[in-house]
Amino acid sequence: MTTDESVWLRPVEPGDLPRMYDLQLDPESNRTAVTIPRTREAFDSHWAKALDDLGVTARAILVGVTLVGYISCFPMDGQDHVGYWIDRAYWGMGIASRALVLLLLEVATRPLVATVATSNGASLRVLQKCGFVVERVGLAPATDRYPECEEAGLVLR
Ligand SMILES: CC(C)(COP(=O)(O)OP(=O)(O)OC[C@H]1O[C@@H](n2cnc3c(N)ncnc32)[C@H](O)[C@@H]1OP(=O)(O)O)[C@@H](O)C(=O)NCCC(=O)NCCS
Repeated sequence: MTTDESVWLRPVEPGDLPRMYDLQLDPESNRTAVTIPRTREAFDSHWAKALDDLGVTARAILVGVTLVGYISCFPMDGQDHVGYWIDRAYWGMGIASRALVLLLLEVATRPLVATVATSNGASLRVLQKCGFVVERVGLAPATDRYPECEEAGLVLR
């Protein structure tokens, strides 16, 4: 188990990217998130831009010295979004919840939005514990990143 004190954030560094790439390939994680993993090329290009963009807050999530996931706040379509991903070996330990609390202390921007497949009960719970409220539910069409699914849009005002 983790304790709140053992979870901490630091800026994502280029050296984290190979581990992050592997995390986002995990099939069960993608089933949970209802996502399609990025190819190596798409992943490298996405993160090269994100790490260069001062408007993006991208943080590695660590437990002690181990990178167990990542969390970020990023502008998209005129809104500031949050997203996160935890190594499946560390699920159910309160890590995403703690990481989101820490990110929200660091990022003062409000409102913040999050888009979640309604089947992703764990992520909905993490967001709602931090005060995000479901403001819409609807069918999201398939894209190169997401299969078609019912998704919820949550907002923290
Ligand atoms: C979603 C995810 C980030 C959760 O991470 P985590 O570190 O296991 O989450 P936490 O342990 O902090 O909290 C999970 C909460 O959801 C609850 N939960 C777990 N599975 C659930 C389910 N199927 N339905 C409802 N609640 C559920 C847990 O009980 C816990 O709530 P609690 O603190 O009140 O007990 C992790 O599963 C993940 O990385 N999934 C793949 C990527 C992803 O889905 N990212 C989010 C995209 S929007």
